[in-house]
Amino acid sequence: MALDNLRAFLGAIDTAGALVRVDHPVSVNREMTEIADRCMKSPGGGPALLFEHPTLVGGGRSRQPVAVNLFGSERRMALALGVDCLDEIGERIAALLNLKVPDTLLGKLAMLPQLAEVAKFPPKAIGGRAPSQKTVLQGAEVNLAELPIPICWPEDGGPYITLAGVITRDPKSGVRNVGMYRVQVIGKNEVAMHWQRHKVGAAHWRELAARGETMPVAIALGGDPASIYAASAPLPPSIDEFLFAGFLRREPVRLAKAVTCDLEVPAEAELVLEGYIDPREPLVLEGPFGDHTGFYSLADHYPKVHITAVTLRDDPIYPHTIVGRPPMEDYYLGHATERIFLPLLKLTLPEIVDIHMPAEGIFHNLVFVSIDKQYPGQAYKVMNGLWGQGLMSLAKVIIVVDKDVNVRDPKEAWWVALNHIDPERDVRFTMGPIDVLDHSSRGFTFGSKMGIDATRKWKEEGFAREWPNKIVMDEATKRRVDEMWKELGIEL
Ligand SMILES: Cc1cc2nc3c(=O)[nH]c(=O)nc-3n(C[C@H](O)[C@H](O)[C@H](O)COP(=O)(O)O)c2cc1C
Repeated sequence: MALDNLRAFLGAIDTAGALVRVDHPVSVNREMTEIADRCMKSPGGGPALLFEHPTLVGGGRSRQPVAVNLFGSERRMALALGVDCLDEIGERIAALLNLKVPDTLLGKLAMLPQLAEVAKFPPKAIGGRAPSQKTVLQGAEVNLAELPIPICWPEDGGPYITLAGVITRDPKSGVRNVGMYRVQVIGKNEVAMHWQRHKVGAAHWRELAARGETMPVAIALGGDPASIYAASAPLPPSIDEFLFAGFLRREPVRLAKAVTCDLEVPAEAELVLEGYIDPREPLVLEGPFGDHTGFYSLADHYPKVHITAVTLRDDPIYPHTIVGRPPMEDYYLGHATERIFLPLLKLTLPEIVDIHMPAEGIFHNLVFVSIDKQYPGQAYKVMNGLWGQGLMSLAKVIIVVDKDVNVRDPKEAWWVALNHIDPERDVRFTMGPIDVLDHSSRGFTFGSKMGIDATRKWKEEGFAREWPNKIVMDEATKRRVDEMWKELGIEL
């Protein structure tokens, strides 16, 4: 059975012994960050935390508890998506992609269940008031200062919603998008929306702003854990994240009509902010914000969302994450994406064996790729291919190694790569789009990229010398030492 909402996810985490309930009053103004940061930096990602008595930025007790670090370990990420190992989802996708059109009618019929799996779980609209709409605050009743929205770091521009699914609709195709974008509280009923220019919500906004049309926006907090994750996944704009979440859950996501805008919102959310952007209004200053690079992202101009309603379920729990110097909780969300989307990358670049983005590389700064090299120059083909795909286009450094290198072990990957390169020969620079959060590129979102071919070099690639083997002990010797180990008196 899939987990339907945040409280079910918290319950499952609790049963797994990975939840700490914090009874002590803790301020959402930085204190919560310091506590959560210490946990997230501990081995394995630390426990999930439920702050039962948070105090608000303006003082006073919060009516809602705050949950942090729910997705912050490999185990909890798998729990969120209902699998033992995240690669299981990649394998499910690979099976779908392997569909060959059979010749016979019988073969075609046999294919139907597999095909049906994709379309089986579209989001389901429910009638009436959803659990997430038990209380509806509208107009003058909306006061975001009453919610436990934290100020994370000392130089942050204000309180930030960090674990939200921002729901918008493509004005051209009508396809919905749900994106995890940070949202800064700038007034009692106003927020600034930090969707970066490469993201789908921003594309919807550009189109609506060009048309001069008001843009409905809903900001959902909580809901089923697969939907929360899906908001962070780099899906193509043509795929509705709630459909993808349904595929992950093997059960549809239930949606209800928003109360004050023309969008649908998760029926199982803890709370939802509904609102709109007025295209006639100037952009507002958003930031600075202590970001997942480990540095502050500088203040910049983003659209203002007017909040027309806050809807809440009974006894809502406020979900939150902090980002900052890695490793943090977002590493595990990104890691799920790495495992789940690998088969899709292999579809166009079949020589890819594995891929890994180490925590310190914060996704776009460093990508290790192992390939089954079959012809000269293939490492360059792979890096150019990756730079041409979706958000991979933002990757700053790509290092390509041979298939026998375990890229999921960055120490091994660095060791082999640094041994295998002649820097002047094997490093290439190119130009391209750069992540909005990169503070070093020569221009905003435009700069250089580095590709390193750390594969073994072939004669056809101009390498005339002999290439040495990796040192590996022979099996017979290892066995003999295994047998005598206990008698050696060596404790390791
Ligand atoms: C915790 C967390 C916070 C994020 N904050 C932002 C953000 O403020 N702005 C943004 O554009 N992307 C942010 N992202 C990355 C996007 O969620 C991610 O790129 C996602 O694929 C965007 O969805 P979209 O492709 O539908 O636009 C964040 C990701 C995580 C895990």
